[in-house]
Amino acid sequence: MTDPAPDAEALRERAVATLTTARARTTLLTSCVEDPDLTAQHSPLMSPLVWDLAHIGNQEEQWLLRTVAGREAIRPEIDGIYDAFEHPRSARPSLPLLSPAEARAYAAEVRGRALDVLESTAFHGTRLTEAGFAFGMIAQHEQQHDETMLITHQLRTGPTALTAPDPAPAPLHTGPAEVLVPGGPFTMGTSDEPWALDNERPAHRREVAPFHLDTAPVTNGAYQAFIEDGGYEDERWWAPAGWAHVRRSGIGAPLFWHRDGRQWLRRRFGVTEAVPADEPVVHVCWYEADAYARWAGRRLPTEAEWEKAARHDPAGDRSTRYPWGDADPGPEHANLGQRHLRPAPAGSYPAGESPLGVRQLIGDVWEWTSSDFLPYPGFRAFPYKEYSEVFFGPEHKVLRGGSFAVDAVACRGTFRNWDYPIRRQIFSGFRTARSATA
Ligand code: AVJ
Ligand code: FE
Repeated sequence: MTDPAPDAEALRERAVATLTTARARTTLLTSCVEDPDLTAQHSPLMSPLVWDLAHIGNQEEQWLLRTVAGREAIRPEIDGIYDAFEHPRSARPSLPLLSPAEARAYAAEVRGRALDVLESTAFHGTRLTEAGFAFGMIAQHEQQHDETMLITHQLRTGPTALTAPDPAPAPLHTGPAEVLVPGGPFTMGTSDEPWALDNERPAHRREVAPFHLDTAPVTNGAYQAFIEDGGYEDERWWAPAGWAHVRRSGIGAPLFWHRDGRQWLRRRFGVTEAVPADEPVVHVCWYEADAYARWAGRRLPTEAEWEKAARHDPAGDRSTRYPWGDADPGPEHANLGQRHLRPAPAGSYPAGESPLGVRQLIGDVWEWTSSDFLPYPGFRAFPYKEYSEVFFGPEHKVLRGGSFAVDAVACRGTFRNWDYPIRRQIFSGFRTARSATA
């Protein structure tokens, strides 16, 4: 195999490594419970874990074996079952799903063949194989489902065999609570990150007015003050649809929280514990984040503001891949990849801060932005409309920065996630902003 691109071999090694890392995680997430817990539906919001497992294999088969390598389908009859658009999550338990043993064997067979394809595919020539894009896309897809499966584990009640060490206590954070991000244009999105997905493209200039941004995500302690101040009962803080949602659903605290006398407790992977005051709040919906911000006299950042804070290097007027620069994330930069099963205390990861001193933009909790999920100017769906394009519109809000549950391969300064504004089973938190008055 000869590749003209000098870094093709490095990309090929990266593709093998990221696919292997993803499969190790998938295996752990689908072997830490007994088979009945793989086929059960733990929440109508989620698929049975065994659906995710076979869907991971089916996507890999469709893109790497059939599309890239032109192979025949291994089990053509199952495509419909694992098509996320044919069946909503709530309907998936009643489908004739592969059994846990069949799903494991199918995913393993696909992977064996995909690694052969990877060895024999040139990393140039077509858009799908250029720089190994299809392999990176499939590694990201599997890791996204690994986060989805971790959400299912969190929704499951009862004890869990999933464990991970806790993050280190936060270093004493002596920096300011917010920084001024100067106004002016910056480059948003990317045209040259090889494995960036369609919705992150293309790079384009965006004007951003000066604003102030929190240097850390909003903590449980701060959020508790909003609750104690009657925030959930005060219409003034809520967007009209959010107020209607709060009244209808009766929510009065983040998902998984309950009050025990004067203390707030939460359930985390089957264990009940005191809510730690210094940790970023997680499992809040967009409406709760938006209401908290208004109560605090602030607002959510727009998506462009978030990305400018995360990527713009004022020294060189260029956009970096991450807040700390262009280096891939290491454990010193950010809480990613399910290394810990919780966010790290606010103010952690000084090595991951932006040039202006904003911390934890990457990892810990997905951060709600005020923005709708919309295409960038010049967007082209690739390689399929159902990844991004069908979700564009005002019904989905953008989340940025990744959580502790997502792997580095599916997290970068340009990465865009989205969900409905009522969703909070996801690992979602937020930070707040305010416009600078000139
Ligand atoms: C980007 C997280 C919203 O889980 O619905 C997985 C990722 N797309 N399989 C989702 C995805 C297809 C997607 N999100
Ligand atoms: Fe999927």
